[in-house]
Amino acid sequence: MPSQTKSILRTTMFSLAIFVATVEAQPEGSNYSEAKVPAYNLPNSLVLSDGIKITTAEAWWEQRRPEILELFEKQVYGKAPGKPEGMRFETKSVDDGALGGHATRKEVIVYFSGEENGPKMEILIYQPNGISKPVPTFVGLNFNGNHTIHQDPDITLSQEWMRANEQYGIVNHRATEASRGVSATRWSIKRILERGYGLATIYYGDIDPDFHDGFKNGVHPLFYREGQTEPAADEWGSIAAWAWGLSRALDYFETDDDIDHNRVVVLGHSRLGKTALWAGARDQRFALVISNNSGCGGAALSRRRFGETVERINTSFPHWFCGNFKQYNDREDTLPVDQHMLIALIAPRPVYVASAAKDLWADPRGEFLAARHADPVYRLLGTDGIASIEMPELNQPIMSTIGYHIRPGEHNVTDYDWERFMDFADRHLRKQGK
Ligand code: GCU
Repeated sequence: MPSQTKSILRTTMFSLAIFVATVEAQPEGSNYSEAKVPAYNLPNSLVLSDGIKITTAEAWWEQRRPEILELFEKQVYGKAPGKPEGMRFETKSVDDGALGGHATRKEVIVYFSGEENGPKMEILIYQPNGISKPVPTFVGLNFNGNHTIHQDPDITLSQEWMRANEQYGIVNHRATEASRGVSATRWSIKRILERGYGLATIYYGDIDPDFHDGFKNGVHPLFYREGQTEPAADEWGSIAAWAWGLSRALDYFETDDDIDHNRVVVLGHSRLGKTALWAGARDQRFALVISNNSGCGGAALSRRRFGETVERINTSFPHWFCGNFKQYNDREDTLPVDQHMLIALIAPRPVYVASAAKDLWADPRGEFLAARHADPVYRLLGTDGIASIEMPELNQPIMSTIGYHIRPGEHNVTDYDWERFMDFADRHLRKQGK
């Protein structure tokens, strides 16, 4: 084929790919117009359900925070159990000459029930060599297996069920050698290590495969009471299970002298960004929380009904949230909470919300507004809250205790996002005395 034809073909394919990505990113039948956002009133994070206003940090900790946490547990994500008895960790491999000698790679298996043939997850950890330990660490779940985050041939290839994706070398719902490194652009490993951080990641399907099978697979059955076959309406869906898995990773970090378990940043993209926020809200051992393009059920305000709505997410992904959340389909105004209160649950710990301009499905403005409306709680707890009540321009990150950026481009995790996440972590976790 002449090279000019090839290049035209390439350009056409590229435009087609962008077109498909954009169409997918903005499904039809949803509202993408600011003018059509309905008028709404947000529930007040500082008013108790009996109508009494709270004005002290003590009242937040003792009264309002437990109330909000319980509402999210029972109405949105579902209640999750604690640490399972008998859980144990096994270090599967350690290689201090990984990535050309720059890193130490460790793989750790978490046997949730202690039993080898029970549910388990594999944590992949990279740490920079030549810096003093313990190392502050980012932890996040990945979509397609630990082996997709880097070309490193020594990462164990996941054997677990995966969502279909031909492009990622997934055949019959299983990874193949062709899957190695396919998500590498989403994990700036080289820069993470250069900037003195560790990275830990887990395939989210290890904890609960992402399809609706009535909660027969994954970790849910481990906790069923006698005769129970699926979670009750106020018990955990898949997002809560994935968040629970992140807390189990933190249980492991507490036993690993190389990891600074007091400086663990939990982060995630999209459905895994929703998961990171819920993990950080529930488990105060996470020192800092980052949501990337998390959208509906994550950082975006549900009441705006912009892009993805509660009804739409409950229909496409009936297993993500708890049974009770279905009551709010097309009835967002009756929700006793909205997502600014999820962010407020993280206070006073630093939280960073990241949006992408073309990711209208995830409602960037709604993500900013949730961050902004978490501000009163952050201030009540003595922090500087959010530095700007106006949504910033593209690439103008806000770096106060509540941080935010919007960058140009699509629904994705980019090097730009990672650099800002690390700037934010540098600023808030590497403060003097920490
Ligand atoms: C879908 C879903 C979103 C989710 C996203 C993802 O688009 O509607 O809520 O964030 O998948 O996880 O990639």
